[in-house]
Amino acid sequence: MASLKAEVSARIEALRREIDRHDHLYHVLDSPEISDAEFDALMRELRVLEEANPELVVPDSPTQRVGGEPVESFEQVTHRRPMLSLGNAFDDDDLIAWHTRVEGLLELEDFEMVCELKYDGLAVALTYEQGVLVRGATRGNALVGEDVTANLRTIKSIPQRLRGSNVPSVIEVRGEVYFPKSKFDAFNFQREAEGLATYANPRNTAAGSLRQLDPKMTAQRPLDIFVYSIGYQEGGDLPESQWAALDYLSELGFKINRNKVLAPSPTRVLDYYRQWIENVESLDYDCDGVVVKVDRFDYQAHLGDVGREPRWAIAYKFPAAQALTTLNAIKFNVGRTGSINPYAELEPVVVGGVTVRNATLHNEDYIRARDLRVGDTVTVERAGEVIPQVVRAWPEHRTGDPPPFEMTDACPSCEQRTERREGEAMSYCLNAACPGQLVRRVEHFVSRGAMDIEGLGIRQSEIFIDEGFIKDVADIYRLHRRRRRLVEMERMGEKSVDNLLAAIKKSKEQPLSRVLVALGIDLVGSRVASLLAGQFGSIYAMQVAEPIQIAEVPGIGPKIADSVSAFLRARGNIDLVERLNESGLQLRQEIVDEQVAERPLDGKRFVVTGRLPNFSRSQIQSRIKELGGAVSGSVSKRTNYLVAGEGSGSKRTDAETLGVAILDEVGFLKLVAGENED
Ligand code: IVH
Repeated sequence: MASLKAEVSARIEALRREIDRHDHLYHVLDSPEISDAEFDALMRELRVLEEANPELVVPDSPTQRVGGEPVESFEQVTHRRPMLSLGNAFDDDDLIAWHTRVEGLLELEDFEMVCELKYDGLAVALTYEQGVLVRGATRGNALVGEDVTANLRTIKSIPQRLRGSNVPSVIEVRGEVYFPKSKFDAFNFQREAEGLATYANPRNTAAGSLRQLDPKMTAQRPLDIFVYSIGYQEGGDLPESQWAALDYLSELGFKINRNKVLAPSPTRVLDYYRQWIENVESLDYDCDGVVVKVDRFDYQAHLGDVGREPRWAIAYKFPAAQALTTLNAIKFNVGRTGSINPYAELEPVVVGGVTVRNATLHNEDYIRARDLRVGDTVTVERAGEVIPQVVRAWPEHRTGDPPPFEMTDACPSCEQRTERREGEAMSYCLNAACPGQLVRRVEHFVSRGAMDIEGLGIRQSEIFIDEGFIKDVADIYRLHRRRRRLVEMERMGEKSVDNLLAAIKKSKEQPLSRVLVALGIDLVGSRVASLLAGQFGSIYAMQVAEPIQIAEVPGIGPKIADSVSAFLRARGNIDLVERLNESGLQLRQEIVDEQVAERPLDGKRFVVTGRLPNFSRSQIQSRIKELGGAVSGSVSKRTNYLVAGEGSGSKRTDAETLGVAILDEVGFLKLVAGENED
């Protein structure tokens, strides 16, 4: 018996090692050796064995990464040594002055420096005893942080057990936890759709994620880490320099950033710095500068600290993508949803290498909160791909007495009165025929991520709208009927007209997901569109689906579902979709998910009659067929349902006499949704 137990225990241990090894290969080295399915099989076996032998479960088992219970609050942790901060250099002179000071203190001219990136995340300290992760803490106030061990355990690139043959008896390592930039937009987007508060940037998201009281919440966030120093160590291989320490940390199984160099001179440091100013945007994590550290630990010890800052290291910050300029005017444009968007006309200024002339001002409240006035000196900021924005005014530089900002109450395009609804920050133009909105809708419809129609620029669509050729986006597919007029028109040569018409024709091949994007439904970008297309297979299936059903699609929250449903069921849009269908656009595709591919109306016979509030008879009929039902023209004993709208007359009487169930439009939708099966 005892030997069986020993065997199980050995197998459990072997599985843990194997799983740890694959976690390391996948999450730290980025070079997996096995498939996800094979990995899952190992995890499953371990889980089964642990469930049968609960006394063998240990906190550092791979099954326990998300095993922590929710807590009321975090315990405090006193760091063995304070978690220092860094002095800053803002230009080359600062960096060289630091180097000269170090030279003086070391009485040496030649010493090597390690250049690393300065990750803009959250500093943490991880303590391992006998090679096992026992504690993870935030930096806190440098002396005392919070115990977030359970949350840190959920980060797969943090080893729960150290690797290699040189494992120290105690080690505290330090690093920066971050939220990958590539995952940030989708994450925020999803939160917004679910009605949750959004995060301002990846750094705040990382901070918010680490401070979740329930580790299961943290586990759902794709946090990652770079480890950059040893805070404390007993036993093992004691490295003698920062460079060697990074190698050692890597050997122990930690994730180290490979963008480091050993620099023999300040010139080399400055090269490194300049190289990263240019390339930092391409990384999947935010960095706000580079950190330069004297390499040898004995030199570091000699240099010591001043206050909370070591003399042996310095952070050379990247230039903020901000600049001062003058706010020349506040203007408005109208978006494709009718939103009235205020924007700034600026005295042109170079921000982070790009000349900026306009910047967004978001909405009325944003401008009022900052009391921005025409003529003010303002700070403009540009971050990555984001549209430049005015972040603040400097009223102390104000000359004269410019009047406070007044929001317009007329649409800048059609001049009709705008409306700002209670609880909303934006004002809207409610004119369905507003040409300004239509220009934006066409612009979006033809854009690259949507129908991708080349040759229909803003100027062109303005003309077509003016001429009355385009009254909604479906008219784009009728432009070929006006070929002669187009060719006669100013600036449109025969060749360019034909190219445009060919591009329009070609766009009919775009898949359903692109059509969904092109429609410009609020909250529906390419990701959501693909999910919807894959799960429903046709725009009509989405049209009849209840918002609740739409929200059942993994990755789609109730807000998106409401938006999709409201859009597709709006009378004008039903018509628009029908016209796009007539033009031959792809409104159907193969369903990816079996579940939604079910045919809930299989074998059922329907008759449709009368005028329905939101759908035409033919729309309801094609839906019935898509979902597996049969449609006939007259009511008989074999009819299962009569779908009846206004003015249904004799068919309704027939159904009543024969005892056939009669459904109105809502009843039909509920039937499709599986809510009132007979
Ligand atoms: S070394 C005493 N290396 O910057 C040395 N810190 O301002 C400080 N940081 O709290 C740690 N990247 O959160 C070091 N490559 C890097 C870093 C880095 C980011 C952060 C860290 C620290 C802060 C100091």
